[in-house]
Amino acid sequence: MTTKEIILDMLTLSRGKPVSGAAMAEKAGVSRAAVWKAVCALREDGFAIDAVTRGGYTLRSDGGRLTAAGISACLETEGIRLTALESVDSTNTYLRALAENGAPEKTVVAAAEQTAGRGRSGKRFLSPAGTGLYMSILLRPKLTMADSLLITTAAAVAAARAIETVTGRGTQIKWVNDVYVDGKKVCGILTEGALDLESGGLRYAILGIGVNICAPAGGFAPEIRDIAGALLPDGAAECRAPLAAAMIDNFFALYPRLAEKTFFDEYASRSLLDGKPIEVLRGNTRIPATALGIDRDFRLRVVYADGEEEALAAGEVSTRPL
Ligand code: BTN
Repeated sequence: MTTKEIILDMLTLSRGKPVSGAAMAEKAGVSRAAVWKAVCALREDGFAIDAVTRGGYTLRSDGGRLTAAGISACLETEGIRLTALESVDSTNTYLRALAENGAPEKTVVAAAEQTAGRGRSGKRFLSPAGTGLYMSILLRPKLTMADSLLITTAAAVAAARAIETVTGRGTQIKWVNDVYVDGKKVCGILTEGALDLESGGLRYAILGIGVNICAPAGGFAPEIRDIAGALLPDGAAECRAPLAAAMIDNFFALYPRLAEKTFFDEYASRSLLDGKPIEVLRGNTRIPATALGIDRDFRLRVVYADGEEEALAAGEVSTRPL
């Protein structure tokens, strides 16, 4: 870690209480003058740091920046290894490289911007700077590939809870793993796994979560304008750190007992599609149906126009107007 990073960590973790220059100098192994230089550099980066005569320094505002220390200060889960990046191609791609190099479970990468964010079914996930939170969590679960749906569904519940706690907005889950607020998608989840061919189990899974906190300047891109929504008014991206922490905490509260599906009732009760007319997407075909509800295997029960019922285990559905 650089001197600047050590100082920023100490200021953030002290949560507004002053930290003495001497303590920071000792921790960073530098002179008091070097601490002062680093404080000036942080101010230039947008951090508001007050210097109190003989009292040390306090961090008044992080200027909306996403930092590992800022997330850690709000986090309750033990053993999380955090990296926060200003910009990255995709946090899932970045974390996959770390996973292949042996990074442990609970390694988390968060970013303020993705230049090549990925969504489900090979789609792009637009992730412009200053508007969202993009985060990936490395898991090494003892699950089969088939059971990995539990990671995604638990993550949807964790994201819904976190959004409600941090922003006060009510949420619903659109099967399988989109979180909606006021009928608009505010959060998408992409879980990618690497298979152990011998055991048929997962070597690791990467849980990627993307949240639209505020709308981009000029609005959402035309291809997602009808679906996408934002959690808060423009310029409110400073809730990123508490939101990231709440998502991590809520997910790891569920993770140790995933197979017991303790979160099923909560998932089902938030289901957005129940009773709604939908279209089941099969290749290029859209089949009209009505969503009935979620079964205990997190499948979406649907009934087609001819009265035939089916439980969908995977795939995409879209709502259709009445
Ligand atoms: C979807 O809605 O189709 C899923 C979107 C998942 C987006 C997140 S953002 C963090 C992580 N990195 C990615 O490239 N994708 C996921």
